[in-house]
This record gives sequence, C-alpha cells and structure tokens, in this order.
Amino acid sequence: MQISSRPRRNRSSRGIRDLIAETTLDTSDLIAPLFFLEGKNQVVPIESMPGQNRYSVDELVKKVRDLSSLGINCVSLFPVVADGLKSKTARESYNSDGLNQIAVAEVKNACPDMIVMTDIALDPYSSDGHDGLVSDSGEVLNDETLEILAKMALAQAKAGSDILGPSDMMDGRVGYIRQALEENNFSNVSIMSYTAKYASSFYGPFRDALDSAPKAGDKKSYQMDYRNSEEALRELYLDESEGADIVMIKPGISYLDIIQKLKLNTNLPVAAYNVSGEYSMVKAASQKGWIDGEAVMIEMLTSFKRAGADMILTYFAEEMARLKS
Ligand code: PBG
Repeated sequence: MQISSRPRRNRSSRGIRDLIAETTLDTSDLIAPLFFLEGKNQVVPIESMPGQNRYSVDELVKKVRDLSSLGINCVSLFPVVADGLKSKTARESYNSDGLNQIAVAEVKNACPDMIVMTDIALDPYSSDGHDGLVSDSGEVLNDETLEILAKMALAQAKAGSDILGPSDMMDGRVGYIRQALEENNFSNVSIMSYTAKYASSFYGPFRDALDSAPKAGDKKSYQMDYRNSEEALRELYLDESEGADIVMIKPGISYLDIIQKLKLNTNLPVAAYNVSGEYSMVKAASQKGWIDGEAVMIEMLTSFKRAGADMILTYFAEEMARLKS
C-alpha cells in the first residue's frame, strides 16, 4: 500500500492532537448569565433549566464571588420583575432604586473586578412581554421605544454596569444609547450589541425563568428571520458605525455560520450566546442518559470558539470553569 498522505498520523496520540489543536477554550472566554429576584436567602430553581436558579440579591452576590474565584470575569444579569411592577410603558426598567439597579450596585460593591453586563430591552418589565412599546393596534413601536432604552442605559450605567447589552433589536438603538452615554459622562461604559438576534424558539426556558413571554403575537417583526444571513452583515455594519464595542450572535448552536461570517467581516470582538434552550436540551438528554452531557458541553463550547467567537455567554460557564479549575 502506498498512501502518500496520512492525516491519521496527526491524530495518533493525545500529545500530537494537543500540538495540532487549532482551538482553545479558556474560562476567561466565558460569561455567566444569572437570574435574580426580590427577597433574601432565596435560591429558586428554574425547572426548565436544571442547575440554574433565581437568586435573591444577597445570594447573587455570593454566586458572583464563587464565579470570580473560579476565574470567570463577566456576569450578565437578568431580573425577575414582580407582576405588580410590570406596565405598558415598562417604567420600572429605569427606576434607579429598582431591583436591577440595586443588584448591579451590590455586585460591583462586593466584587469590583467582576465585569457586570446588563440587558437592555423592555420585556421583563413590560405587561405586554415585548422588547418594545406596543401600540393600541399591537404594533411594536421603534422610535418611541428608543427613549426608554436610553433611560434604561443611563440607570444601569449609573448603578455601575460595565457593559450594556441591548437585546431589543429596535433600529438605531446602539447609536441612540451611545449618544445618551456620551452626553451624560458615561463614555467609559461599553456596549455589547445583540447584533444578530434571531426570532428563535430556543429562548423558551429563559422566558419561563423570567415569566417574560409575549402576551400576544411573537417577536418576528423585530428579531431576525432565521432564513437570513446577509441581513446579519447589515446589522453588523450598523452596530459598528453606531459605536458598539462587541457584537453578539444569538442563539449559538444553530447559528455557527453567522458567527463565522461576522468574525470574518469585522475587527470588533465577537460574542456568541449559547441560549437557554440549547442548555436545557443538553441537560434533558443527559439526565435521560442519552448523551454524555459533560462531553457535549465541551464540544459545544469549543465549536463556538472554532467558528470564531472570542467569548461565549453560557449557562454552562460555572460547570465548565469547575472542570478547568
Ligand atoms: C430579552 C432577552 C431574551 C434572551 C436574552 N435577552 C429573550 C427574548 O428575546 O425573548 C434569551 C436568552 C436565552 O434564551 O438564554 N430580550
């Protein structure tokens, strides 16, 4: 037999495989999304996301300290807003004494080195469960929503948030928020834009966790259509020109092509959001003994890096960091 090229030689031992490996996954690449609620001493499991909880702020602070000691540099915070505080105009979203702002301040106070990211969109605060204002005829209003987003941005920046994550997909939001930050002496606050955020069925468990599902209709008039990828470039160029610091693709696993496309077309850092449904599918199949959950987690997270993501928002952050530590 004469085979001139034998790729298997480069796979023949762990040592050579490690020398050859093109992709590395480090704890410092991971951002941990965390859910929190009112109260004290509360750790409330999220049934559809095994291993994930909603924490009262005191418990949230403890969790952030643990994550910091594991080498995680960034957390992304999501509040569970009490029903009585939800409204048509989502005014609780920019309450400077509201739960979200209190949590940011307490986390930064307890753990100043932890980078705190917060979400900008109306949905957890909106009685309509939409990311923008809903008109009487059911339309999600763009320009009227921008004003509220900017108020949220300022409230979060004032509380000490390091990175703002507009996840609402309104047109012009990054520029509008950036301008509000500049005008109010918050030019050091970063924006990680949810640049290519698709209207996806993978967000189900997240909406359970926050009780934030739309009351009517869906999010297809603002989140992207998953049949499209050129449109992601259009969103990329807008976010770049409007002052985003980091661009994000969401969801992750079904969108590796979009991650690669954005990485090849920008000089900005690229983030991937490994969303709730992707996490829950792995956990469910693993609990049934149908897959090796830990191995699948590592394979999934590595594939984001291989596709071009510089960082990954993932509910696996703690589990992965513990494996690495
Ligand atoms: C809020 C927001 C959502 C997610 C992050 N920010 C839900 C949505 O857009 O409906 C989803 C995250 C996940 O599923 O893990 N706009």
